Amino acid sequence: MRKVFKFAMLAVMALALVVSAVGCGGSQPKEQAKEPAKTDAKPKLVVGSDTTFAPFEFTDPKTGKYIGFDVDLIQAIADEAGYELDFQSMAFDGLIAALQANQIDAAISAMTITPERAKVVDFSEPYYKSGLIVAVQAKNNDIKGFNDLKGKKIAVQSGTTGAMQAEKATDKDKITYFTNTDQALLELKNGGVDAVINDYPVSAYFIQQGNNDVKLVGEILSAEEYGIAVPKGKTETLEKINAALKKLKENGKYAEIYKKWFGEEPK
Ligand code: ARG
Repeated sequence: MRKVFKFAMLAVMALALVVSAVGCGGSQPKEQAKEPAKTDAKPKLVVGSDTTFAPFEFTDPKTGKYIGFDVDLIQAIADEAGYELDFQSMAFDGLIAALQANQIDAAISAMTITPERAKVVDFSEPYYKSGLIVAVQAKNNDIKGFNDLKGKKIAVQSGTTGAMQAEKATDKDKITYFTNTDQALLELKNGGVDAVINDYPVSAYFIQQGNNDVKLVGEILSAEEYGIAVPKGKTETLEKINAALKKLKENGKYAEIYKKWFGEEPK
C-alpha cells in the first residue's frame, strides 16, 4: 500500500515537471516567429537612459514598456539614421561613466548640456528647453522659491543639475540623494524633506498625475537645454544623430512627438 502511494506521488511530480517544462518552452518559438526575418541588418545604436523621469522616459504601467518624449525621439532618430535601437535602462549617475567606458553609444535622459559634462562627453544639438524648479508640500507656506532654502532639507536625484543647485542652496548634510527622482518626490510627500529641486517639466508632470499634496514655488531657475550625449570623439555617431534631429525638426516629426507629450507646439 505504501509503495503504491509513493509511486503515485512520484508520478504526479514527474507529470508536473513535464507540464511546466512544456509551458516554458512552448511560448518561446511563437514569439520568435513574430519577428520579421532580418535580411539587411542595420548597425546597432545602444542607448542608455534612466527611465524614471516622466514624461521623458518612464515605464508604461499598463504594458511595462519604456515610453516618453525621449523614447519616441531616439526611436525616430534611429529610424531616420538607419540604426537598430537597443534602448537600455540604467541609473542616471552612471550614464556618463558608461559613455566614457564605451558601454553605450549614446545617452538620452533629459540630460542638461553643462560645461562640466561637455568636457568628458560630446553633446548633440539641443533638443529641449528646460529649467529647475522648487517643489514643496502644498501646505507649506514658508518656502516661496530658491532663496528660502537655506538650512532646509532638500531631496534630489544623484548626479543631476538639481543636486548641484541644492548644494548651492543649503548645507550638504541637509541634502538627501536618491537614485530616482520618483523617490525624491515621494520623500517630499512623506514629509521627510522640505523641498525637491528638479527639472520643471518632470515635477509639473508629477503633480498633474494626481499628486495634489505637492506644489511648485518660485521662478524656473536658469535656462537649461537637453542634449543627447555620445562618447568623446565619436563624431560619426554624433553627426548622424544631429543630421537626423535636423531632419525631424524640418519634416514635422519632432513637432508631432513634442505635441504628443506636452500638448503644445515646440518652444
Ligand atoms: N536635467 C537634469 C540633469 O541633466 C536631470 C536629468 C535626469 N534625467 C533622468 N532621466 N533621470 O542633470
